[in-house]
Amino acid sequence: MDSCRVIVLDEADKLLSQDYNHLLDDLLYSMPNDRQVMLFSATFPLTVDDFIKKHMKQAYEINLMDELTLKGITQYYAYVQERQKIHCLNTLFSKLQINQSIIFCNSTQRVELLAKKITELGYNCYYIHSKMRQEHRNRVFHDFRTGLCRNLVCSDLFTRGIDIQAVNVVINFDFPRYSETYLHRIGRSGRFGHLGLAISLITHEDRFAVYKIEQELGTEILPIPRQIDENLYVAKAPLDDHQEQQQQQQQQQQS
Ligand SMILES: *[C@@H]1O[C@H](CO)[C@@H](O)[C@H](O)[C@H]1NC(C)=O
Ligand SMILES: *[C@@H]1O[C@H](CO)[C@@H](O)[C@H](O)[C@H]1NC(C)=O
Repeated sequence: MDSCRVIVLDEADKLLSQDYNHLLDDLLYSMPNDRQVMLFSATFPLTVDDFIKKHMKQAYEINLMDELTLKGITQYYAYVQERQKIHCLNTLFSKLQINQSIIFCNSTQRVELLAKKITELGYNCYYIHSKMRQEHRNRVFHDFRTGLCRNLVCSDLFTRGIDIQAVNVVINFDFPRYSETYLHRIGRSGRFGHLGLAISLITHEDRFAVYKIEQELGTEILPIPRQIDENLYVAKAPLDDHQEQQQQQQQQQQS
């Protein structure tokens, strides 16, 4: 190692988790002092930050992620019991103006089970999860993106937010535990003005996670109202400049 000048850590957030931390310290100490360290990571948890402070003098940071934002997304929750979730979802399907939806579950098994239930309810849906082969996943995602199917059930696969304009409703069938996951599921990258609805089914067990995520993201998840204003999430014909101004004023007043 003492003649190795460059070290590249891909998926740095994982490599720097507690499990490997000391191993990397040892590796770095056996390299020359003028070594170059490169870190690639989709997220920047504290462990990565600590590592940078400790080992990378004058680190240069390049951010290729679009900022994920919750702007324009209206967030509601429905308080339910576990066994009421399917019924609740069915009600949402019948009442909302869904153009395309993505529904998140917390495990591979629950993704498959839910996709089956949704099909039995008479709605067509695709599903993807991490145990499927990559080509298969890509094909399903591609078909969904082209609009062949309205609903997609999945587990947490998206690391940079959903960038499909046609998706106007996202449903957390299972509520996530971490704010990062919540943001990746619900948030949109970049452009201000994208409208969407995010609805989380919340059980008694989820109540602390809801509070924590609201705090950490500085956002508010409201109880779902009886009627949801379509202007909050159904795209109309493209807005002209005057309408766009009005909409921005409305959104500012709301916030
Ligand atoms: C997923 O959600 C179900 C229902 O809320 C829960 O019973 C289960 O423990 C959760 N699994 C994980 C891995 O969080
Ligand atoms: C609705 O979804 C279809 C694809 O399913 C897409 O072609 C269309 O542009 C979407 N409409 C809106 C208003 O986003």
